[in-house]
Amino acid sequence: MIKVDVIVLGGGPAGYLAAERAAQGGKSVVLIEKRALGGTCLNEGCIPSKALLNSAKLYEHAKDSAAFGVTAEQVQLDQKQVIAHKNKVVQALVSGVGAMLKAYKVQVVQETGYVEGKTADGFTVRAGEERYAGEYLILASGSVPVIPGIPGLKEGLEKGFVMTNKEALSREELPEKLAVIGGGVIGLEMASYYAMVGVEVTIIEMLDKIAGPTEKEISSVLMRNYKRKGVQFKLGCKVTGVTDQGVLYEENGEEKLAEADAVLCAIGRRAYTENMGLENLGLEMNRSAVVTDEYLRTNVPGVYAVGDINGKIMLAHTAYREAEVAVNHILGKEDRMDYSVIPSVIYTNPEVASVGETEETAKSKGLQVRSIKVSMNYAGRYMAEVERGDGICKMIVNTETNTVVGVHLIGSYTSEMIYGAEMMIGKPIGDLQKLVFPHPTVGEVIREALFF
Ligand code: NAI
Repeated sequence: MIKVDVIVLGGGPAGYLAAERAAQGGKSVVLIEKRALGGTCLNEGCIPSKALLNSAKLYEHAKDSAAFGVTAEQVQLDQKQVIAHKNKVVQALVSGVGAMLKAYKVQVVQETGYVEGKTADGFTVRAGEERYAGEYLILASGSVPVIPGIPGLKEGLEKGFVMTNKEALSREELPEKLAVIGGGVIGLEMASYYAMVGVEVTIIEMLDKIAGPTEKEISSVLMRNYKRKGVQFKLGCKVTGVTDQGVLYEENGEEKLAEADAVLCAIGRRAYTENMGLENLGLEMNRSAVVTDEYLRTNVPGVYAVGDINGKIMLAHTAYREAEVAVNHILGKEDRMDYSVIPSVIYTNPEVASVGETEETAKSKGLQVRSIKVSMNYAGRYMAEVERGDGICKMIVNTETNTVVGVHLIGSYTSEMIYGAEMMIGKPIGDLQKLVFPHPTVGEVIREALFF
């Protein structure tokens, strides 16, 4: 039995950052991860998808920049090389995480961890041939895709005809026609890639809008941009089956087929809590997720759950912050998790980035608000760089306090500006108007909105 202060189960963004922060705080730490370090984010999520999307953007620009005075002949996309580049980026970052953990003297164990329960030595976890005991246990086992019981879907997955994000990010052959089940973040980001590289894409979404909680008008602009790239949408449609020909769905009471030679299933993710002995702890659960409080404590003193496993907000950047809050609690430092101002980004082309309230969420909370809408074309740099640009900035202002409560953007670079907007939340417009923005930048659209 190896005794440590902290055992971390899972080496994704939540787990590796928790391990790093705990080690920085002087704790002895063991991190148990059965696969590569970096979790979904690094291996089959955030980072690989950005590598693919960048290749698609380069391809699109090379083919379609005549309006900017640039033309090229015989532009080709080599999907094998796209994947090879992605693999190189992933490998470099995964080994970077390993090096960072080593530098902080975190013991990384590449095994499946199984929680045996609490003994006099602490929380005991078996991993391979060894057993570890820790005073604290940080659970960070992440999430897995939801696979619904749609007839033919599971068989399709087994045959390789149906993909989740994982398979889609490693596939070396492009399909001719792709059907995407789910018009949420993963469905949209992957559809963006496939449409840009010339695949015929149909998105089937059961709601009447894409991009879930995204501000309505931003979601419409996004949809318009997809349609320009030839993507077809079947909104408000129920998927009834998957066959070798594609996806069956119901539209106005009629069963139709979205023809496809590959299907992507992206209807959400759920916390991953199976086969790791969590039942031995007596944790309070909410379906598959572990229930946590504002310190990321579970109902079992000494056990914390950070990242997707708690099912709150399944985003890597939320996970980072949760990891810090949990470790600060262990270290006795005052800190708590605030979920009210978490930015979200959809890395489509154009990008969508939001923070804070939309008009609807503000009104549902009884806030008196006004909504400001400014075209991105107010920003000179945007005009210079984007053809047919229809990007917008929507700012939601509390009219009682004259403070910013939400910022929603669609356009180029918006993922890089949103943290600036995040810092404006709750601040008086009068103060923010005095901020000097660099010129010319696309971000100036936010300054413009402050004067509307
Ligand atoms: P999601 O929850 O974002 O979207 C799922 C979509 O599928 C929803 O619009 C839902 O209405 C629809 N849907 C559900 N059942 C359906 C059915 N039977 N037929 C048709 N449509 C159906 O989930 P997604 O896209 O799978 O992403 C999973 C998680 O990963 C999310 O929590 C997301 O936050 C995270 N993620 C975040 C990214 C980012 O921040 N850029 C990128 C990728 C994933």
